[in-house]
Amino acid sequence: MTQTNFTPRVFSGIQPSGGLTLGNYLGAIKRFVDMQGPDFETVYCMVDLHAISVWQNPADLAHNTRELCAGFIAAGIDPTKSILINQSQVPEHAQLGWVFNCVARMGWMQRMTQFKDKAGKNAQNVSLGLFGYPALMAADILIYHATHVPVGEDQKQHLELTRDIAAKFNHDYGVDFFPMTEPVIEGAATRVMSLRDGTKKMSKSDPSDASRINMTDDADTIARKIRKAKTDPDALPSEAKGLESRPESRNLVNIYAALSDQTVDQVLTEVGGKQFGEFKPMLAELAVSKLGPISAEMARLMAEPDEIDRILTAGSLRAREITAPILRKTYDIVGMVAPV
Ligand code: TYM
Repeated sequence: MTQTNFTPRVFSGIQPSGGLTLGNYLGAIKRFVDMQGPDFETVYCMVDLHAISVWQNPADLAHNTRELCAGFIAAGIDPTKSILINQSQVPEHAQLGWVFNCVARMGWMQRMTQFKDKAGKNAQNVSLGLFGYPALMAADILIYHATHVPVGEDQKQHLELTRDIAAKFNHDYGVDFFPMTEPVIEGAATRVMSLRDGTKKMSKSDPSDASRINMTDDADTIARKIRKAKTDPDALPSEAKGLESRPESRNLVNIYAALSDQTVDQVLTEVGGKQFGEFKPMLAELAVSKLGPISAEMARLMAEPDEIDRILTAGSLRAREITAPILRKTYDIVGMVAPV
């Protein structure tokens, strides 16, 4: 289905449930910055309601929300161009989330691999919110009638569910109200892997800090983690095909490509034939030169939390100009009587 009748609008979100990793930066935030511009209205969100689907210490949640906002801005999200919000302050997300709880089917939710991974063997003891999470995520997107959602590879299934929910709502109520949102999963680093195990995603919840690069790591830490990253003994190939069965090596090349805005093939033209002893310092230098200024700017912004709060307040007011009429219309379609 074409989306010509909807304003081109980007929405995406990140959980303030811990520090930002290089995976969040390359898979998401850097892409958010790329999409900012004349082609789209852009809305970026700290999804604090999602975060509490697993226990969050309240003070940490508040700190992580502000730090995430600082990370967005330091990486290049301009609050005068994009709407920056924390989810809880735009109540229409949760309100539409309830409607979608009543649209989504149990069977759809039970297929969500991220729920199965997160719940593990403990499925009877996790929160109901963790199970229902993807319906709220669909509401985050569709309360803006967003047409495009930039995310990393791990969110693909949730975006398919978002389309299923939109289609079922439109079908059940006989309307063409919610758009079929396009996932935007592009670039060299849609799935940044752990530095210790090339078959596992780089994640803030990995118990090993050496498995990831945090956006707040200093230059020495970044260089040390890259030096110690797992690799194999072979030299780098000169074509992407040569990385196929070498997950750790492919990961480091993907990171290099994404940080330097090149394709993997362009990188391999430059570094093919080199040993990791030579490539790792090149990668470390590149990572420090790209991430260092972002973490310095984050620290500067974090020293002015009132300014961050002002940005979020302004963002929520602008967001509600979009979300309030869409919720009102949704309620109308569903048959909720509104006081006159
Ligand atoms: P979250 O907070 O786990 O991750 C935020 C974004 O970072 C991407 N990402 C990665 N990309 C590449 N490699 C990695 N190792 C890596 N780790 C994380 C994720 O794909 C994501 O784009 N459910 C979402 C948050 C959310 C959302 C939304 C996203 C809530 N509502 C609406 C888009 C639209 C989540 O938990 O992302």
